[in-house]
Formats: sequence, C-alpha cells, structure tokens
Amino acid sequence: MFDFITEEHEMIRQAARDFAQSAIAPIAADHDESGEFPLETVRQMGTLGFMGIEIPEEYGGVGMDTIAYVLAMEEISKVDASHGTIMSVNNSLVCHALLKYGTEEQKQKYLVPVASGSKIGAYSLTEPMSGSDAGNMRSRAVLSEDGSHYTINGRKSWVTSAPVADIILLFTMTSPERAHRGITAFIIETDREGFARGKTEPKLGIRASATSEITFDDYCSPVDNRLGEEGEGFKIAMAVLDAGRIGIAAQALGIAEAAMEASIKYAQEREAFGQKIGEFQMIQQKLADMKCRIDASRLLIYQAALAKMKASKAGGRYTLESSVAKLYASETAMWVATQAVQVHGGMGYSKELPVERYFRDAKITEIYEGTSEIQRLVIARHLTGLR
Ligand code: CAA
Repeated sequence: MFDFITEEHEMIRQAARDFAQSAIAPIAADHDESGEFPLETVRQMGTLGFMGIEIPEEYGGVGMDTIAYVLAMEEISKVDASHGTIMSVNNSLVCHALLKYGTEEQKQKYLVPVASGSKIGAYSLTEPMSGSDAGNMRSRAVLSEDGSHYTINGRKSWVTSAPVADIILLFTMTSPERAHRGITAFIIETDREGFARGKTEPKLGIRASATSEITFDDYCSPVDNRLGEEGEGFKIAMAVLDAGRIGIAAQALGIAEAAMEASIKYAQEREAFGQKIGEFQMIQQKLADMKCRIDASRLLIYQAALAKMKASKAGGRYTLESSVAKLYASETAMWVATQAVQVHGGMGYSKELPVERYFRDAKITEIYEGTSEIQRLVIARHLTGLR
C-alpha cells in the first residue's frame, strides 16, 4: 500500500509482532498489576535489536530507519504500552542524542551498550518546579577551576526508566544568567557517588515502566561527559524531543489499535436486545470513527518519520510534523480507548479484560514528552511565526 514500506520493514514489523505476542503478552497484565519492571523481556528486546533500531551497527544498533522504528514501536505498544515507553526513551531520546551529539569516544563508551540493550538509558529534563516550561530549571552544574570536571547539584523528576537506568542524559544549568541558553547536557553514570534515585512513582498507567525522581548531591562529572558544548543543552533537549514525540505517537497508535480490535471482537460476539451489539448503529458509529482516526494517525506518523529521515540526510527540522503526529495520535488513543470501554460496558471497567489497561495507558501519551497543550503551542507558533 505504501511504496516506502519495504520487505525489510515488513520483516521487523513481523519480528516485533511475534516477540510481543510470544514474550510480552503473557506477562503484560501481571506486570501492570505489580508495577515490576520487565527486565528480562527488555534485555531480550535488546538482543533482537529493538533498543537501537536507527543506530548504525558499528554503534550497537541494527542500522534501520525511522519507518522501521515506528512499525516496531506500534507492534510492541499494541501488546504492552509499558514496553513501548521503555523502548521509545532508549531509542529516540537517548540513542538518538548520543549518535547526533556524542563524540566518537562517547559513542563507543555509552551508545554501544545502550543501543545493544546491555545497558538501559534515560532522559532527564523535567524538575519538580518545571515541566512544560522546561528551560526554567533550578539544578546546577559548576565547572571546577582547573576545568576538569563539573559538580552537579539538584533534583529532577518524572524520569522514565530512572530506577533501572545505567546511563542518564541530564539537562542542567551551567549559566543561570543566560536562561535557556545556559543549559548544558551531560551523560550521567548512575553508579557514581552523589547520584541517588527517589521512590518509584505509583502511576495510573504504563505501570511496568519505572519512573522516579533523581537527585544530585555534589555529583562529580568529568568534562568528557558533557554532551555538546556548554549552553547547547536546551536545543539538544528540544531537538531530541522532536524524535521522541514520533515514538510516542507510534506508541499511541499501538494502544488505539489494540482498543479498536478488542471493540470489534466484542461487538461481533456480545448480544443485547436479541442481536449482536455490532448491529446497533451507535456501536457501528464508534467503530467507524475509531478506524478513521487510527488511519489518520498512522498517516501523520509516516509523514513525521519521512520528514525525520529527510532531515537526517539533508539537515533541517521536523518539529512541526512530529508535534502534529504526537498530538493527533495521542488524542486518538485516548478517544479510542474511552470509546472501547464504553462499547464493552461493565466488562470494559473490569480488570478481567485488558481494555481498562489501554484506557489507563493511553492517558500518558497526552502528557509526557510535551502535553497536548504544548504540541498545540508548537504547531501554532510554526503556523503564525508569532510567539
Ligand atoms: N529543535 C531545535 N531547537 C529548538 C527547538 C527544536 N525542536 N525548539 C526550540 N528550539 C530553540 C529555539 O530556536 C530557541 O533558540 P534561540 O535560543 O537561538 O532563540 C530556543 O530553543 C528556545 O526556544 P523557545 O523560545 O521556543 O523556548 P520556550 O521557552 O518558549 O519553550 C516549549 C518552548 C515548546 C514550550 C518547550 O519548552 C517545550 O517543548 N516544553 C515541553 C517540554 C517537554 O516536552 N517535556 C517532557 C520531558 S521528557 C518526559 O516527558 C519524561 C520522559 O522521561 C520521557
């Protein structure tokens, strides 16, 4: 149907589908219930190449493109959005940043293990007092007089995968008087002194994806662990989020598809008033609208993925395409999951079926990596040129 989807793309889509069905589906409900991080299946995803899909083989990845990435993300998230979150942060935030901004030495030391899945990566921008207003941070990194290291102090919050991460991409302030132009990026090794993890957040959804605060108490970071130049951190954080938002859009698509498929099956089986509920027009309308919104989301995700692939060859940004895809796909996931619960009636509200999990998991896609409000702000600024 789409010329840009090759046989190789179909192979990774099938591999992700097979793995999700055989290894993730049997454990998804239990991990959702317990909130336990699925370390074993995440390691297996690394072995299969799903943790560094767009990273060249020489740096531990499988050297495929963004279309391959979104196809695999969709399949994994369709079965379990928690695995999708872990995969998305590792691929499109951490690996992408290290590949684009890292020195050769940083790539060998950090990208190779994170892309191959032997180490887990995390991305830390948000602070307790700054989420959407990402540039307004209180944490600090101070360069030593001899210029050999930075001393980092402060608290960051809502860091996906932080409880298990070996490497964290940190954005912190080196020159507060320069506001967002005073932010710098660092590669944090979590086994060093001065680094601590807070308690794992008890979340509504994506419960198997562990999230926590992290704190820095005179953490000593060698200058070699700075990613990019001093003051480039905000732009790195934003550019990397452009890639991350495509991953979240694909995750949302997977959740929406799972919710729609469950609804179709239920509409074909469940009877009321002497007929299948799928014969009622009010149910038909819900299913038809689900299908339209899901197909539209998929096209917007492909548009964003192709824009990213073009930008990686020719330069330029794909911020607009990425925000459009993330906004539309995440609101679609929430809408479809809400309708799916409604189609299922009481059973949609029961933990006996996965529909209530899709509903809880869908919500985060409208919040993290930029809320729907922030995506609308980004889109409107592009349209008008106004701020
Ligand atoms: N790529 C490159 N540069 C960019 C950029 C992008 N996508 N977006 C902005 N910039 C640059 C601008 O060009 C500007 O450059 P100059 O300094 O040269 O002028 C600079 O960054 C500042 O840009 P703005 O003036 O637009 O910045 P702002 O303060 O108005 O903020 C914002 C813009 C869109 C609101 C931004 O702060 C934002 O995206 N906020 C949401 C943050 C977010 O998504 N947080 C989620 C964190 S991750 C997470 O959810 C948890 C997890 O673990 C997954």
